[in-house]
Amino acid sequence: MTARSSLTVVLAAGEGTRMRSSRPKVLHEVAGRSLLANVLNAAPHGPGSALAVVIGPDHKAVAEEARRVRSDVATFVQAERLGTAHAVLAAREAIARGAEDLVVAFGDTPLISAETFERLRAPLAKGAALAVLGFRAADPTGYGRLLLENGHLVAIREHADATEEERKVTLCNAGVMAFAGARALEVLDRIGNANSKSEYYLVDAVEIVREMGLEAVVIETSEDEVRGINNKAQLAEAEAVMQARLRKAALDAGVTLVAPETVYLAADTTFGSDVTIEPFVVIGPGVTIADGAVIHSFSHIVQSSIGKNALVGPYARMRPGTSLGDGAKIGNFVETKAATIEAGAKINHLSYVGDAHVGAKANLGAGTITCNYDGFFKHKTLIGEGAFVGTNTSLVAPVKIGNGAYIGSGSVITKDVPDDAMAVERSPQSNREGGAARYREMKLRGKEGKKG
Ligand code: UD1
Ligand code: MG
Repeated sequence: MTARSSLTVVLAAGEGTRMRSSRPKVLHEVAGRSLLANVLNAAPHGPGSALAVVIGPDHKAVAEEARRVRSDVATFVQAERLGTAHAVLAAREAIARGAEDLVVAFGDTPLISAETFERLRAPLAKGAALAVLGFRAADPTGYGRLLLENGHLVAIREHADATEEERKVTLCNAGVMAFAGARALEVLDRIGNANSKSEYYLVDAVEIVREMGLEAVVIETSEDEVRGINNKAQLAEAEAVMQARLRKAALDAGVTLVAPETVYLAADTTFGSDVTIEPFVVIGPGVTIADGAVIHSFSHIVQSSIGKNALVGPYARMRPGTSLGDGAKIGNFVETKAATIEAGAKINHLSYVGDAHVGAKANLGAGTITCNYDGFFKHKTLIGEGAFVGTNTSLVAPVKIGNGAYIGSGSVITKDVPDDAMAVERSPQSNREGGAARYREMKLRGKEGKKG
């Protein structure tokens, strides 16, 4: 880590028209995290690292997301969209404070890593005035080309302004740049808009730095790291790259993924040791899985914690706010939401448990439903330690089942059940001796009569 102070300016004022969405582009997600959050998480952190995001007018949600991710962020509005250099200068006030390094990044390149930011800044400590992040593009169409002379970066030419010869260059501008802070404003203020789009292009900084007799250098990285997201196809490609990375990281950390390519993880998923995830599992944001837990196939888990040696699925759905205790079990077709399920409790089949607390070692039979919503308000169901709930039971909340209580199958429980009590709520059963045989005979006679 460099000890130099920095200001990172993240450009996120674009309309994102090609996403064909009412959502601002940088709020779309990869691995359950917004594009912007991915960039902000990778951007330099810690003491001496200031952060600014440039947003478009009417993009309040973008400013909110930036603040949620990094409370130290300053936001600036670019009122008119006049190009990338113009966008950087929207943060003039922050730049004028004079950090040693000024880093510029785009809010729509979510795959960039913290190490790459560090690598890009390294030449500044050795006296370069500008470091540009470059990559070899499989198809360079649309990207700015990095033009070198005798190995030195002399200019970046935007695709629209490039000659046929320049368009053959495959070394492209990733969009991320680091300026030596001392001269950065001087360089930015000299950028004009004499080009085919009449925009203030940040890329012109290279030629200006050279004219000032200073040095500009290229730091190369892989195309996968700097994919820009402009449409939904590119968003899907970035998701695939991110998933591959997350799966590899999980495997490296010792998670058993039986068929890694079928498991979807979130950027913030955390695993203990000896976790097993069977094929076709989807894990959304905010999930922690402790040591020895097993997630069986076709389970869907979001904002939940799973305790040590707990078992989930197959076909379980854990919605936000589920906490599954050590050794607890959620079986097939069980849905949970805002539920704390204590250690050793079992909900093995076909149940809905929402807004509930299930005590340790309680056993909920197949078809146990917490009726948590009355059409207007949500209510809580409390189930005591070691309680036994018979199959096909409706627990109409608010309701409390005591420790060690026992509920007979098929009950609709609307009143609290005391500790160790047995509650049965259903009509008494009547057996009519010989009734089935008489019924059968009657029906058979009817059938014979019709034939005749
Ligand atoms: C830019 C680079 C190009 C590079 C490519 C990499 C320039 C002039 N061109 O082109 O060399 O190869 O990225 O993906 O820098 N933005 C604003 N305000 C503006 C204009 C843009 O905030 O007025 C933001 C956008 O939201 C986006 C970023 O700047 O995050 C880049 O803008 P975009 O229009 O996508 O530039 P490209 O044409 O992709
Ligand atoms: Mg772009």
